[in-house]
Amino acid sequence: MLLECDRISKRFGGVHAVAEVDLAIAAGQVFGLIGPNGAGKTTLVNLISGHLRVDGGAIRFDGADVTRLAPHELTARGIARTFQGVRLFKGLSVLENVLVGRHVRMRSDALRRLWPRGVPDRLDRERAAQLLERLGLTRPHALAGGLAYGDQRRLEIARALASEPRLLILDEPAAGMNPAESARLRDLMRALVAEDLTIVLIEHDVRLVMDTCERVAVLNFGRKIAEGTPAEIQASATVREAYLGAEDVA
Ligand SMILES: Nc1ncnc2c1ncn2[C@@H]1O[C@H](COP(=O)(O)OP(=O)(O)OP(=O)(O)O)[C@@H](O)[C@H]1O
Ligand SMILES: [Mg+2]
Repeated sequence: MLLECDRISKRFGGVHAVAEVDLAIAAGQVFGLIGPNGAGKTTLVNLISGHLRVDGGAIRFDGADVTRLAPHELTARGIARTFQGVRLFKGLSVLENVLVGRHVRMRSDALRRLWPRGVPDRLDRERAAQLLERLGLTRPHALAGGLAYGDQRRLEIARALASEPRLLILDEPAAGMNPAESARLRDLMRALVAEDLTIVLIEHDVRLVMDTCERVAVLNFGRKIAEGTPAEIQASATVREAYLGAEDVA
């Protein structure tokens, strides 16, 4: 297994946001994480990416215990993510945002040590340009903050991919995308998985989940209430019940 969560938990005061969740995610697949609003999906991935500390339980990545590592250490080990609310350097250009994402991978030599973040070389710039092209971002020198919302979401994915991750976590990447953009995102995820990337996809767009995920886990009130293939999840009475009254029916 590439990623294993062993009974991980997180409380916020009286709220058990993530409650003893077990996960085992094999490499080379899209793993879906769904559940009603407030179910604990974002909190769970914040624990995995090191943006929050677990109260209990353990996380292993590629066989190593990574439970207490900081986000930048996890990035260096190959975990990258996007955020539910886009987090870009809005005052930097599109290209610069991707180069920032690349800096964990920049080679360090004597000259580079003079620079706190490393100087992007020609190879870094070429790789960044390739990523922008792949994500359909055609204006590398535009300010990130001036991009349309769908483009900002794609830029976030480009930045995450720039660190050359093995695990990519996407927190509602299709929110605010039109059907054509969402279809392109589906194709991108399939292509990335074919290149051996593993993806954790949090998404309310049921169609996108059904079309891309090999397995899906369902959270409700912090607990994992179901896991299976997309078809099994759609047929599950427990899952239906969890969504009852919620807008987005799985
Ligand atoms: N920093 C925080 N402080 C206090 N409570 C929080 C915090 N973050 C999340 N929560 C609470 O934890 C629970 C899980 O929230 P979380 O954001 O993980 O849900 P989610 O499944 O991602 O929901 P959504 O689909 O709306 O994004 C909710 O009750 C939420 O209010
Ligand atoms: Mg969320």
